[in-house]
Amino acid sequence: MITSLAGTAFAQPTSVIPIETKRYGLALQVGNDKRVGIIHFGTKLKNSSEYLHAPAMSRRGDDYSGILNSVYTPSGSRNLVEPAIRVTHTDGNTSLDLQYVSHSVQKTDNNVSTTSILLRDPAYALDVTLFIKVYAEEDVIEQWSVIKNNEKGNVTLHKYASANLYVSAKDYYLNHYHGDWAKEMQPEEIRLTSGIKVLDSKLGTRANLYQPPTFMVSLDKPASEDEGRVLYGSVEWSGNFRVDLEVDPLNNLRVIAGINPFASEYVLGKGHEFTTALFVYTYSDKGKGDASRNMHRWARKYRVMQGNGSRLTLLNNWEATYFDFNETKLAELIKDTKKLGVDMFLLDDGWFGNKYPRNGDNAGLGDWQENVQKLPHGIGYLVKEAQNNQVKFGIWVEPEMVNPKSELYEKHPEWVIRQPNRPEHLYRNQLVLDLSNPQVQDFVFGVLDNIMTKNPNVAFFKWDCNAVIYNAHSQYLKDKQSHLYVEYVRGLYKVLERFRAKYPDLPMMLCSGGGGRVDYAALKYFTEFWLSDNTDPLERIFIQWEYSYFFPAITHDNHVTDWGKQPIKFRTDVAMMGKLGFDIVVSELNQKDLEFCQNAVSTYKTINDVVWHGDLYRLASPRDNDYASLMYVNDSRDRAVMFNYLVSNRYGAGTLSPIKLNGLDPDKKYRVKEINLYPGTKSSITGDTSYSGDYLMTIGFNPGVNARRASVILEVTEAK
Ligand code: DGJ
Repeated sequence: MITSLAGTAFAQPTSVIPIETKRYGLALQVGNDKRVGIIHFGTKLKNSSEYLHAPAMSRRGDDYSGILNSVYTPSGSRNLVEPAIRVTHTDGNTSLDLQYVSHSVQKTDNNVSTTSILLRDPAYALDVTLFIKVYAEEDVIEQWSVIKNNEKGNVTLHKYASANLYVSAKDYYLNHYHGDWAKEMQPEEIRLTSGIKVLDSKLGTRANLYQPPTFMVSLDKPASEDEGRVLYGSVEWSGNFRVDLEVDPLNNLRVIAGINPFASEYVLGKGHEFTTALFVYTYSDKGKGDASRNMHRWARKYRVMQGNGSRLTLLNNWEATYFDFNETKLAELIKDTKKLGVDMFLLDDGWFGNKYPRNGDNAGLGDWQENVQKLPHGIGYLVKEAQNNQVKFGIWVEPEMVNPKSELYEKHPEWVIRQPNRPEHLYRNQLVLDLSNPQVQDFVFGVLDNIMTKNPNVAFFKWDCNAVIYNAHSQYLKDKQSHLYVEYVRGLYKVLERFRAKYPDLPMMLCSGGGGRVDYAALKYFTEFWLSDNTDPLERIFIQWEYSYFFPAITHDNHVTDWGKQPIKFRTDVAMMGKLGFDIVVSELNQKDLEFCQNAVSTYKTINDVVWHGDLYRLASPRDNDYASLMYVNDSRDRAVMFNYLVSNRYGAGTLSPIKLNGLDPDKKYRVKEINLYPGTKSSITGDTSYSGDYLMTIGFNPGVNARRASVILEVTEAK
């Protein structure tokens, strides 16, 4: 710890706690009043002992002192801005003050270390420990807190954020997202003005439908891909979240992020602890591209299940059959899976329910027994069929939900979330099971475990979640109704932990009628996620583009379907930017389309390593151009793949001049070759000429996208 006098007019003895990644960091200051404030956020100093000269970002010696820049702002004492924590003590008192007690640093390895800072209320036996975990090489920080009640009785938590950042810039430009089903990730950029902008959701079972828990803030001016100071943040919580962005009276930005405290007062028993959600963030002074590569590297290495592993390409039957299938039809689709050349057949919704067969979305959900009409020989038969065709077999579940028309609902009405005195309100004809109840947790675990126990060769799950919580009420929680939103998500994590303890390697897709649930807490248990039910390839370019800021391509499940008007090549090229899947009727493809798809699957196998594990560079945004262009580059910078698409049908639209590549080695020589051509077509981009990385990044290369060549994939390989 560095102890000295701060070089300000109100010099007081202080200590500084620097928390640094490879390039960035924050510096905390412990004032002589024992309050901990943030005095620096951004590019780190070469010499961390110099932080102590930094003037406190918040005015000192007046009403704001040590409050605006608080590292975890308490409520009810001297603070008049948005708090990070608000409590009612055992004696009914609503004030909180948090003073520094101690801190320590725990090193996990050479890259990862966690600083914990113990804060205590001088008047009440309430402790808050802040955890700030640094992933140095990736420039990523995760932050959370643990609130411990050492009082004589219950303490009620009204707000319990993960983190409270304090950032200084001239202006703040917030990039956030809104959307709805099939319209995920619509971006919006606004300049933050004085006051509070809140991003939040109150859906219960998922983080996102109208707003995801991810955002970025550019400092001073809007950051571009390669320039500007930018902060990326994401709440790691698979339910209600809240982010407050407050431009304070000193024009500094306070960011308070965590679980949404909406209708969620949490009663913390004597001696108990409450661990908040985690908040992950990264910062770059080199633009959005650099920040997103930080996030991707961190995610692949530390968070996403098998983040640096491989993925199974697949044929899904959802849009090919919807609920209308039987064993014979599926056996044919399994043969088509083989014919297409993908790794796995994925059986979607509709395979279960007998008293109330799942022949539509209005019945059967909750009754996880094979429908005897459709599958007289059960899942086992299909798994065998898959084996006979040398492909794997995966299956869809939606274990947290129930249709009122189901045996489960008849048997266990007490497991259903709903208000006792109000009419039921359904979302997609279904209700949500009460995951705060351990019996329900057992049931949900059992849905997957029973499938696996009976069919150990099932190779993949698609875990869906198609409803939100209306009429939030849990029969199980009795007088603790305000715990429901938190306990629902904790219940989900308990099930997922249990599942992963027994099936540590089984790949699993996170789906929520689209990307409604994706967040970095869930991705610990899932290998990938379904971005949107909207698979129109034009729309997908935009949706995938925005997700790509936060989540790496290896997590993106992209399926070729019949949505949209583009030819099969365009649809497939777009899907190849993540994990490739198909959801089409293969037997209805004409010969050339089939041949193209088969070749595309083979081609994909040659580039998937770069797409899954490489660095992403967004080159030309579909929002600013008639086309979109992006590329992935492998670690050794000897291979890259560049994807280019026409996104406008206006006259003459296309790439009229070269697009500058990025991420290559300027001193290496590369050949550029068009791949994934439609049968019978030729390209003039043959890889015969070699160019230096310097040339490709300074002058660029024109992929020749136009109305006749609406999608072009280029392979860039080092010329040896
Ligand atoms: C919503 C998913 O997003 C779809 O892919 C499909 O699995 C349906 N649910 C099935 O009901």
